[in-house]
Amino acid sequence: MTRNLFMGIDVSTTSAKALLVNELGEVLSSESTALSLSTPRPLWSEQNPQDWWEACVGSIRRALHSAGAKGEEVKAIGLTGQMHGLVLLDEQGEVLRPAILWNDQRTAAQCDEIRQRLGKERLIQITGNNALTGFTAPKILWVQQNEPAIYARARHVLLPKDYARYKLTNEYAIDCADGAGTILFDLQKRTWSDEVLNSLGIPKEWLPKTFEGPQVTGVVSAQAAVETGLAAGTPVVAGGGDQAAQAVGVGAVKPAIIALTLGTSGVVFATTEAALVEPEGRLHAFCHAVPDRWHFMGVMLSAAGSLQWYRDALYPEISFDDLVTEAEQAPAGCEGLYFMPYLTGERTPHPDPLARGAWVGLTIRHTRPHVTRAVLEGVSYGIKDSFTLIQRASTAEIQQVRISGGGAKSPVWRQIMADILGIELVTVNTTEGAAFGAALLAAVGSGFFPNVEQACEATIHTTGRTAPGAYSAAYQKYYPIYQTLYPVLSPTFDTLASVFNE
Ligand code: XUL
Repeated sequence: MTRNLFMGIDVSTTSAKALLVNELGEVLSSESTALSLSTPRPLWSEQNPQDWWEACVGSIRRALHSAGAKGEEVKAIGLTGQMHGLVLLDEQGEVLRPAILWNDQRTAAQCDEIRQRLGKERLIQITGNNALTGFTAPKILWVQQNEPAIYARARHVLLPKDYARYKLTNEYAIDCADGAGTILFDLQKRTWSDEVLNSLGIPKEWLPKTFEGPQVTGVVSAQAAVETGLAAGTPVVAGGGDQAAQAVGVGAVKPAIIALTLGTSGVVFATTEAALVEPEGRLHAFCHAVPDRWHFMGVMLSAAGSLQWYRDALYPEISFDDLVTEAEQAPAGCEGLYFMPYLTGERTPHPDPLARGAWVGLTIRHTRPHVTRAVLEGVSYGIKDSFTLIQRASTAEIQQVRISGGGAKSPVWRQIMADILGIELVTVNTTEGAAFGAALLAAVGSGFFPNVEQACEATIHTTGRTAPGAYSAAYQKYYPIYQTLYPVLSPTFDTLASVFNE
C-alpha cells in the first residue's frame, strides 16, 4: 500500500533535518546531520552552502530509510531554515563566498547607511523593520563595499533554505516570511520593494521569485532525485523562515495564540491579521507562512544558547538536567544576583551588536545554584521585554502562550518563565518545531488540508500547562531592576568593543 507522506526539511544553524509525517500529522521519521559554524573574525558567523546541501542529502536519505518509505510516497516537500543569511551565486548558480549568517554582527556601518539612504521612518513604514545587523540587506552592502570582485560576479541572492530548494528543484524561489526578513520587502504587498531596492542599488533580477508558504515553487529535479532518493517531479512548496514555520508547527497561526520558542535564540511570535508595524521598529514585523497573515516577533539572540554556553564553558561535566534541577535550591531573585543574556549582542528590545553578557550583584553568599538560576531568570526577563512590547503592539487579546524549543523541556525553567511573565504557558504534542510546520505547509500545498489553520487544528493539541506560581508576585518587583541594567552598562559595552575588537 502506498502512503501519503509529507517531508519537512529544516536547514538550521546547527543541523540539516528531514522529517516525514503522514496525513494524520504523525511523525514517522526525523533525521538530522550536524553542521558546524565558522567565526573567521570577531562578530563574523559563516557556513558553507555546499555543506547544507550535503547534510540535507544525508538526512533526506536516512529519513526515507528509517520510515521504510519509497520516494513516490512523499507527496510534497516543505522547506524551512535559519532566516536572514546571505547566499551569493554567480550566473551559473555557483556559490561565490561562504554564506553570512543571521547571527553575524559585522554590518553595523551598513545598517546606519540603510537608515540614512531611506530614512528610518520610511524604512520601517515599507519593510516593517529597522535595519539590524542580522538582516540580509546590510550583508549585501557589506559584500559590495568589502569584496567588490565577488560582488561584481554576483547574479543571485538566496537565503539558506532556498539554496537547498535550488539544489532540489533548480528554481530560484523564496517564501514571504524569509523575504520580509531581508528588509528588501514591501511588508504590505508581500513582495520585493522597488523603492528599497532602488535606494540601495540592489538589482531586482538578483532576487528570487516570491511565494506564499503552501504554494508550489517547483519540483524535485532528476539529478536531485538520484542524489536524495526522492522521486523526480515531487512538488516542493515555499515553506517559511524558521520562526514562521515553527509557529505553524505549534499551531500559532491566529492572533490570540502566541508562540514562545526557547531555542538557541528566544522568540516571542504573535500573528496579526494586517501588516501592523511597531513605529520604533523595536519588534520585527514579517509576513507569516500563512497566506494573508503577518506577525510581530521579538528575538533574543542567546536564550537557551546562554544556558548552553554557561554549562559548556563552566560545568561541562554536569548534565543540563542536573544543573537546572539544582537551581531550584536558590530562591527566586537569587538574593539580588542578575544575569544579562547578551552573549552574542542583542536584537529585542536592545538592537545592539555590541551588548555583552554579565552577572551583576555577586556576593560571597552566592553558590552555583544561584548562578545557574540567575541565567534562567535573566533569559526569562529578556523574554518578558519582548512579551511586553508584543502585548502593547498587538491589537488582539492573548488567549494562549505555547512554549516550545529545547529550553521548554525543563519544568524548572518553564515555571520560572511562567512566574516572570505572569501568564500560563501551554505545551503541545508536536515537538519537531519548524520542520513539522514545513511538512504541514507541504500537506496544505498538495491539497490534503484546505488551509494551514485546519491542518494545525487536525494535528496539534495541548499536552501540558504551567501556571504562574507563588514567586510570580516577587518577580514583578525584581523585573524592573533587570530593566535598569542595560542602559547603565551600554556605554561600557561600547568601550569594551572599541578596546578589545580592534
Ligand atoms: C529570526 C532569527 C533566528 C534565525 C535562526 O529572526 O534570526 O531565528 O532564523 O534560527
